[in-house]
Amino acid sequence: MAEQKETEQVQKSGQKPRDKFTLINVYDPSKEIPRREFFMDLSKMAWLTFTGASLLGGATCGRFMIRNVLFEPPSVFNAGKIETYEWDKPDERFQQTYGVWIVKLSQDVDELEGKPTLIALSVVCTHLGCTPNILLAEQKIKCPCHGSGFRLNGVNFEGPAPRPLERYKVSLDPATKEIVVDKTKKFQWENGEWVSPESYIDLSNA
Ligand code: FES
Repeated sequence: MAEQKETEQVQKSGQKPRDKFTLINVYDPSKEIPRREFFMDLSKMAWLTFTGASLLGGATCGRFMIRNVLFEPPSVFNAGKIETYEWDKPDERFQQTYGVWIVKLSQDVDELEGKPTLIALSVVCTHLGCTPNILLAEQKIKCPCHGSGFRLNGVNFEGPAPRPLERYKVSLDPATKEIVVDKTKKFQWENGEWVSPESYIDLSNA
């Protein structure tokens, strides 16, 4: 019945009736990709892959040839006028940028016969390198990591820190009379370097 219906439909449409056993995909040797062409395509692909890999490798090597630039603050900086600092109050204005506290000591106890001085102290704890806090009410510098305590002049007196904080070179610019801190030069108490005139500004006549 269905077959008859189909035959009628085909006759109406004027198409040639479909053979029941028509082969849909007949093998046609003329459409076969010639062997030579196939290998040509293969070699083209290989070249493309090789070129891509070479370019990638070259770009990666090139990146290694370019120097990584670290933008660090300069080691020598101007810290302004002496009068802008308060006595016996470590100043934190350069802590973040330079890792330095400027301390105007009315008396450098332990050192320099108690002279009034201005020093540039490193903010790095000499135990394991944490940044201590300034506890003004207790007149000390206290490390939050393992409890080392330092006097305002940097001398350690409690906790595991094995030595005082380091000091940096300070001087007065002869022209402007402003403080210049030079971090390229360090002064360590344990080496007897705090007596060096470059490690402090004498404020006896200030
Ligand atoms: S790092 Fe400061 S006490 Fe340990």
